[in-house]
Amino acid sequence: MAGMSDARPMSATDQRAATAPDAILQLGFGFWGSRTLLSAAELGVFTELASAGPLDAESLRERLDLHPRSARDFFDALVALGMLEREDGAYRNTDETDLFLDRAKPTYVGGLLEMASRRLYGHWNNLTEGLRTGQPQNEAKEGGSLFDAIYTDPATLSGFLKAMSGVSAGVARALAASFPWERHQTVIDVGGAEGCVPVQIALAHPHINGGVFDLPQVGPFVEEYVTSAGLGDRLRFYEGDFFADPLPSADVLIMGHILHDWDMDEKRMLVDKAYAALPGGGALIVYEALIDDERRANAHGLLMSLNMLIETPGGFDYTGADCQKWLREAGFGETYQQHLLGPDSMVVGIK
Ligand SMILES: C[S@@+](CC[C@H](N)C(=O)[O-])C[C@H]1O[C@@H](n2cnc3c(N)ncnc32)[C@H](O)[C@@H]1O
Repeated sequence: MAGMSDARPMSATDQRAATAPDAILQLGFGFWGSRTLLSAAELGVFTELASAGPLDAESLRERLDLHPRSARDFFDALVALGMLEREDGAYRNTDETDLFLDRAKPTYVGGLLEMASRRLYGHWNNLTEGLRTGQPQNEAKEGGSLFDAIYTDPATLSGFLKAMSGVSAGVARALAASFPWERHQTVIDVGGAEGCVPVQIALAHPHINGGVFDLPQVGPFVEEYVTSAGLGDRLRFYEGDFFADPLPSADVLIMGHILHDWDMDEKRMLVDKAYAALPGGGALIVYEALIDDERRANAHGLLMSLNMLIETPGGFDYTGADCQKWLREAGFGETYQQHLLGPDSMVVGIK
């Protein structure tokens, strides 16, 4: 009888299992906290509090135009998740959310969260289907390229490019500080989106000139971004398609979050094109959320690779050792790997 087995003393294994499910459940329900933060970013909670806070629950609710039913639970959940602070009933940002999630600040990284909120969160709901079929689960699900699919809608294009600046803002500053730029004069960021990376490099190194190579639709966004950084005389847009065209020449070419979008043959073709475009002594910098060589520690890099399943027909992330091997096979004489920031590291190949 079922009741009788319930009365049996627990074995050591049962006891271990009985004390251990917290971490499992926390991960399994991670989407609750994730979805709450993404909605807060999308609704502009942090921007509102940065400009008008501290605010009590009713004033914040009215400013965000939320229904009364769950507003207080929403704000207090953000307090419990460490994203807001509350004192005497008034809500304000934490130091981090004030710096990184206020749309009015140049340090804003919420573009990435807004894209995750509007696009990726829904697409990841089909991960199981992607794992079964090996097919992307996003706007390009019916075939074609992600970029063809999202670049036809100006709002999605703009959101995607802002998200890329959000992903790469910290990495850009780390890259500006951790490469011997004094040995080089020119840099072109291949698939550089708005130009966040060359802008940070040029701001930190006044002798550097160059720009962004990207698809034609991206040009106006690069021009606006570069001009607003006061760098219109040193950085420009190079229009092109890296499958159809050769890459422009510069002392340093950068490919940030590019190779992971493509399959193995496409990766090799892009590395070969970079090698051909560089002068002797020139450098290719590849940065990515590189997977650790043992493929067991950098969960972010491994999940990013699953994100490539969701987003692309053949893309995947890779380890630093993989990347250095490909660069050497393409002819680069010297290669090395260096950590940049958070999950991102770079592999450098010197021609
Ligand atoms: C994942 S984003 C990376 C952006 C940026 N490098 C970063 O790390 O934030 C990929 C970039 O590659 C560009 N791209 C995609 N296909 C391209 C092509 N065929 N030729 C040139 N650029 C392309 C996209 O427009 C986009 O800016």
